[in-house]
Amino acid sequence: SAAITVPDFALVVLIGASGAGKSTFARRHFRPTEIVSSDACRGIVADDETDQGATPDAFALLNAILDLRLKNRRLTVVDATNVRPDDRRKLVEVARRWHALSVAIVLDSGEDVCRARNAARPDRVFGPHVIRNQMASLRRGLRGLPREGFRQVHALRSEAEIAAVTVSRQR
Ligand code: CTP
Ligand code: MG
Repeated sequence: SAAITVPDFALVVLIGASGAGKSTFARRHFRPTEIVSSDACRGIVADDETDQGATPDAFALLNAILDLRLKNRRLTVVDATNVRPDDRRKLVEVARRWHALSVAIVLDSGEDVCRARNAARPDRVFGPHVIRNQMASLRRGLRGLPREGFRQVHALRSEAEIAAVTVSRQR
C-alpha cells in the first residue's frame, strides 16, 4: 500500500469533497496543533462551524494562522475542501513565502460514499449537486496540481487506499 513521506517542514493541503474523510484523516496522521480547519475557524469567528456566511472571515483567520505557523517553521495541515484552484492559490503562496514544501493529498472516496456519510451528519444538509460539483472540480484540477506549485501530489482514489496509506516524516 502507498506510503507518504512528508518533509519535516511542509504545508500539507488536504483536497476532497465534503464527507471524503479529510478531518478523520488529519486527526489520524497529524497532531491536533498541526491541523488548521476551515470549520474550526468558522466556529472561532461566528460560534457556528457551519455558518457559510462566515466563510470569508474564517479563511482570513485560517490564512493568518497558516502564515504565522509557517513563519515559525511548523508543519501545517489545511483541512478544508480545497477543491478549486482558487481555493488553493493563497495556500501555495503563503508556503512559498516561507519556503515550505507544498504537499497535496487528494482524498477521493467517491460520490456515493461522501453522500452516504453526509446523510448521517445533521450538520451537512445540502443537495446532492454539492458533492457532485465538488468532485467534478477536484477531478478536473488534479493534473494541474504540480503546476499550481505542489511539489508532492498524492492521490488516494478509494476508501481502501485512504485506510491503508501511511504518513511519515523526513528529518
Ligand atoms: N467517516 C467514517 N469512516 C472513515 C472516514 C470518515 O465513517 N474512514 C465518517 C466520519 O466519522 C464522519 C463522516 O464520515 O462522520 C465524514 O468524515 P470527515 O472526516 O468528517 O469528512 P470531511 O472530508 O472532513 O468532511 P467535511 O468537508 O464535510 O468536513
Ligand atoms: Mg471536515
